[in-house]
Amino acid sequence: MDILKKLTQIREEFHRAAGEARDLKGLESIRTKYLGRKGELNSILRNLSSLSGEEKPIVGKEANVLKKLFTETLEKIKQEIEDKGPSEEIYGFDVTLPGVPPPEGNAHPLTRTLSRICEIFVSLGFKIMEGDEIETEFYNFEALNIPLDHPSRDAFDTFYIRDKYLLRSHTSNVQIHLMQKQEPPFQVIMPGRVYRPDAVDASHSFMFHQVEGLMVSDNIRFSDLKGVLLLFCRSMFGEDINMRLRPHFFPFTEPSVEVDISCIICGGSGCRVCKGSGWIEILGAGMVDPEVFKAVGYDTSACTGFAFGMGVERIAMLMHGIEDIRLFFENDIRFLNQFR
Ligand code: PHE
Repeated sequence: MDILKKLTQIREEFHRAAGEARDLKGLESIRTKYLGRKGELNSILRNLSSLSGEEKPIVGKEANVLKKLFTETLEKIKQEIEDKGPSEEIYGFDVTLPGVPPPEGNAHPLTRTLSRICEIFVSLGFKIMEGDEIETEFYNFEALNIPLDHPSRDAFDTFYIRDKYLLRSHTSNVQIHLMQKQEPPFQVIMPGRVYRPDAVDASHSFMFHQVEGLMVSDNIRFSDLKGVLLLFCRSMFGEDINMRLRPHFFPFTEPSVEVDISCIICGGSGCRVCKGSGWIEILGAGMVDPEVFKAVGYDTSACTGFAFGMGVERIAMLMHGIEDIRLFFENDIRFLNQFR
């Protein structure tokens, strides 16, 4: 009874194929192969007449049983595929697979730090003002009480372009432009890029960012400066931060200070970041030198003010524990992706 064996084989093959069907297209080709007009079962039924009288009813019955079984099985699988919802059949891909998330952008760590600094001062009533990066000696130096032959120019090593033009070495140039145009009272912060011909290493870059602040009115005292800076430091670095002022020299402020905060890593007990001192320097500040007011034509007897300036890279490095300033400018996506 070879023909019955053949039917058994067809059944086994059908079940294997049906078990692997994943979509309606696959299912249809199985149906054609086993149940189609020229399919395996129909060709057996068509040839029944060539069988012996004894075989005919047995094979005929068995083939019809399989026909029914195959039809029902395919219908069931079809239902299952359809129940899973529209899939490759319609969209050309499996919509039930988890999606591939599109790459998500994020602000550069320096932009984030700068925004936070600005946000704090804006909340204190400061306005934001920007200025040019190409500047003259007058705005970068002379008006800020740094005469041509003064040794303090060394501290602001500068890229010269030609004639009296240079790349500003600090954002203090903006305060001169502002004061030439406007009478006090005012309070502004001036963020921007500055340039110094430093050899590039882990802590130096020929270009970096500063935020300068300036507040001028008729009765601004040193205690105002201290109050504003303490408020800033605590908003920026944490409410439990302590601040200390060390006497310093800047040509454009008198008296001048360097401002330290208690180490944000060790809290003041001494660690690698604060080099064991418990303090970290974060900005320079002071009361505006009357020579600066004179340079912009203010009445020095009626004007008082304070100024401060900070490096954005330095603050971002501190806050994120970044040990090499070059990382900010290399555009390495693995670095940048860490700031979300
Ligand atoms: N301009 C100074 C610098 O670049 C910073 C500063 C600004 C200090 C204002 C005091 C007052 O180092």
